[in-house]
Amino acid sequence: MRAPIEFHDRMLSLGLARVAEQAALASASLIGRGDEKAADQAAVNAMREQLNLLDIAGVVVIGEGERDEAPMLFIGEEVGTGNGPGVDIALDPLEGTTLTAKDMPNALTVIAMGPRGSMLHAPDVYMDKLAIGPGFAEGLVTLDMSPAARVSALAEAKGCAASDITVCILERPRHEDMIAEVRATGAAIRLITDGDVAGVMHCAESAITGIDMYMGQGGAPEGVLAAAALKCMGGQIQGQLLFRNEDEKKRAAKAGVTDLDRIYTRDEMVTQDVIFAATGVTSGTLLPGIKREPRWLTTETLLMRSKTGSVRRMQYRTPVA
Ligand code: FBP
Repeated sequence: MRAPIEFHDRMLSLGLARVAEQAALASASLIGRGDEKAADQAAVNAMREQLNLLDIAGVVVIGEGERDEAPMLFIGEEVGTGNGPGVDIALDPLEGTTLTAKDMPNALTVIAMGPRGSMLHAPDVYMDKLAIGPGFAEGLVTLDMSPAARVSALAEAKGCAASDITVCILERPRHEDMIAEVRATGAAIRLITDGDVAGVMHCAESAITGIDMYMGQGGAPEGVLAAAALKCMGGQIQGQLLFRNEDEKKRAAKAGVTDLDRIYTRDEMVTQDVIFAATGVTSGTLLPGIKREPRWLTTETLLMRSKTGSVRRMQYRTPVA
């Protein structure tokens, strides 16, 4: 029997950046064209094609959905040449399909990779999320606290008034009470229509983005991807899976989740060092979107390794085929 091949994240990370880049480029001609499905499909195809060129024995743990509902990059799908380390992959080929179709800010292609068993196999259900940036005591804010208590704890730790705090929240009817409670503290709210991976990542760069805290319910797969990003950037995230019916609970059981009420910390969602790449599709606060010039396309990719905390920004310019 061959000894397992070690996960050399340094070299693999460059390949991962290419995967994110190519997925973004594939969706470039679909930005602002009003067709979410076509944009997503183009990104999925390109991401899969590129992943299959990498020398890894990869398994998709966070993907496009379960096998019966996603023809490609489904949870459990094996990717890569098979000649390399066994790795877990979490991906969202187009995080913000509607943002892309409507040419609105902060659509990204996102992918994270770590050794086998490094990431929570989150089922495709909702997750209650709470995130802040680096430099605060662990557990300063928790999901058990009310939204108002979270704002005042963060304001106290920052030595500022509640009115100096900005919270990012997905604009959804389910968040109406939360929004009202946060507003009552005097804090500002940046409402986003989609894209909570970017929303969480904004907390880690609050000086640039102006966002101090993220809270609210969004996709659980996006929660694990956001945890992988914060593992590299620093910052805290907590997540609790939410179940609307028995079918969703069954999905959790299938994914190996036994404690349905558990609150996961960042390091419980992502238990080992990972690499993370995101390419801007539409322009946002963290990453510029794809730039189109006559005959040329340019992308910018954020590539990070949690082991070293290193962050690379890679610009890629390519002639239009
Ligand atoms: P898609 O890219 O799959 O459209 O997801 C976008 C997104 O906004 C996520 O960022 C977020 O976690 C989720 O959808 C929220 O779900 P819902 O739209 O059902 O509130």
